[in-house]
Amino acid sequence: MKLQGTMIINDKGHLEIGGCDTVKLAEEYGTPLYVLDEEHFRNNCRKFYQAFTKEYGAEVLYAGKSLLTLAVCRIIDEEGLGLDVVSGGELYTAIRANFPMERVYFHGNNKSAEEIRLAIEHNVGRIIVDNLYELELLNKIAAEMKATVKILLRLTPGVEAHTHEYIKTGHIDSKFGLVIENGQAMEGVRRALEMERVELCGFHCHIGSQIFELDSYGHAAKVMMKFVNKVKEETGFKAGELDLGGGLGIYYYEGDEPQPVERYAEIVINTVKEQAEKYNLPMPKVMIEPGRSISGPAGITLYRVGSIKEIPGVRKYVAVDGSMGDNPRPALYQAKYEAYVANKMNKAPEEIISIAGKCCESGDMLAWDLSLPRVEAGDILVVPATGAYTYSMSSNYNRLTRPAMVLVKDGKAELIVRRETYADLLRNDLIPDRLKKKVLNIASVR
Ligand code: LLP
Repeated sequence: MKLQGTMIINDKGHLEIGGCDTVKLAEEYGTPLYVLDEEHFRNNCRKFYQAFTKEYGAEVLYAGKSLLTLAVCRIIDEEGLGLDVVSGGELYTAIRANFPMERVYFHGNNKSAEEIRLAIEHNVGRIIVDNLYELELLNKIAAEMKATVKILLRLTPGVEAHTHEYIKTGHIDSKFGLVIENGQAMEGVRRALEMERVELCGFHCHIGSQIFELDSYGHAAKVMMKFVNKVKEETGFKAGELDLGGGLGIYYYEGDEPQPVERYAEIVINTVKEQAEKYNLPMPKVMIEPGRSISGPAGITLYRVGSIKEIPGVRKYVAVDGSMGDNPRPALYQAKYEAYVANKMNKAPEEIISIAGKCCESGDMLAWDLSLPRVEAGDILVVPATGAYTYSMSSNYNRLTRPAMVLVKDGKAELIVRRETYADLLRNDLIPDRLKKKVLNIASVR
């Protein structure tokens, strides 16, 4: 197995992370349990900060959609990164965590008036405007609030990144952004430049997620700079900022080959520089928005094994106490994960098993055909690389409660998300009076 971050196998043959024995964590906090390795998470932040900010003065905006909690906001702030938020809820999390609002970038393809007001009220750094409707709405709301709002326009550069269909966003047939090719993007620029309450600072694009081909970024940067030049020629506006989105791929499973962050930075920055020189444009400030590559590898999930069903000659299903509710990625994207038996790390593989979740749905599988030591009820299964898009995409399907999350560091574990309770599940449920169960009044019966 790939022991990532602070993971080691201790002398009991248990997996340890952040100096904490995962078997003990499971006993103490219960399962399923999300575990976030603080040192690993911070190191990932630092790799980006070093490669982009220290080296080239570019800004790194952590994509909160991959994993956002109050504690995560605090770490991101301490590491000097900015924050990309995509909803009022993510923005509210940043506000409540006292995240510096000037480093918040607000995305979304259908921001509501209420979300826009919240963003303006709190002076977020930039609003990334996705479409012409939003541009008009923003200008109107800003006027009502007597504010001027700094924006980037999100463009669709028409670059196909090689990744799963659902997580491709830069190609033309996408719900996101103004299309460059059909003139929509230029129309957006003209409108924005005319507007009183909107200050256009530059452009944004995001070409997809879980990307291993760094050339895709170079290609996107070229398309964007060509557009920057066209805008200068047609309107005289020189874009000062270029946000090239996130998407760097991480290791989940055999065959995944993450690319070094330094190389990513080099390609992005050098391409923008070359293009700026080619068109005789000022070098814009570059931003990037990594999410998964920061949070993903730093998280693991612990489960306890329950029922085991063997169909001789067909398959062995090992069911755990989690499900597509805590990690919908295998069901949604056919995502592949590795898994290990946390309490049998030194035991040799003996059997091929598939890991089933506990939802009433055949598609609720967490991993297929893994070669593991003999698995028994009560064992602790660990799924690595689950820091991104698991908790943030979790649901209460089947009325399962969401797991807790602990932050581990130097042998200490601290709860950063409480485990949901049954009472939490009913928090928003109401019974109209007419449906209330009538309690029989014994006295009146007599
Ligand atoms: N910036 C923008 C505008 C984005 O749309 C995204 C991801 C990111 C940055 C961060 O991308 P990352 O570095 O995390 O790949 N739920 C899917 C991934 C959806 C990504 C959506 N946008 C999954 O679990 O694979």
